[in-house]
Amino acid sequence: MEYLLYSLAAYLLGSIPSGLIVGKVGYGTDIREHGSGNLGGTNTFRVLGVKAGLIVTTADILKGTTAAALPFFLGAEVIPLIIGIFAVIGHMYPVFAGFKGGKAVATSGGVILGVNPLVFLVLILSFFILLYISKYVSLSSMVCGLVGIGASILLEEYGLTIVISIFTIFVIYRHRSNIKRIINKTEPKITWM
Ligand code: G3P
Repeated sequence: MEYLLYSLAAYLLGSIPSGLIVGKVGYGTDIREHGSGNLGGTNTFRVLGVKAGLIVTTADILKGTTAAALPFFLGAEVIPLIIGIFAVIGHMYPVFAGFKGGKAVATSGGVILGVNPLVFLVLILSFFILLYISKYVSLSSMVCGLVGIGASILLEEYGLTIVISIFTIFVIYRHRSNIKRIINKTEPKITWM
């Protein structure tokens, strides 16, 4: 019963469409109609600029962190990582935004932050190194999943390895259009790094 309650709460939390709220309330813009059409931090940076992008990315990370940390603070007998998966599902398929959400990156990162801040730090550093080399946010996000799997194995955190593997499958699946664009050489590169 506890699993059901916390999973539902995590799904609803993950479903909060930060990109849609910030875009519509703050800028009168539906970011789904611009850029890549994705409801995530990257597209918010692209369409609305740095401030909005930072707010949405932070909010999306915090959805995952809160979902994973809440059972701990409330003393629930559930595994935070499992609850975190439902926040990521909510972020990808939000009930509050027609089930069309983000690509799982920030909220997955947030769950990892809530469970193992060291692995999160490794992922953030790897992300920026990969971004510096490739200039592709999407590619860096996908490869980060593999880095996370490796880091968790090295730390012998095998539960985390399983969940990061699930997150990586989510991330790659949700980046299908980006993968096609990378192959066709039409995926936009960042220009600020
Ligand atoms: O986190 C999503 C990012 O990897 C790609 O976003 O908008 O370029 O498809 P986007």
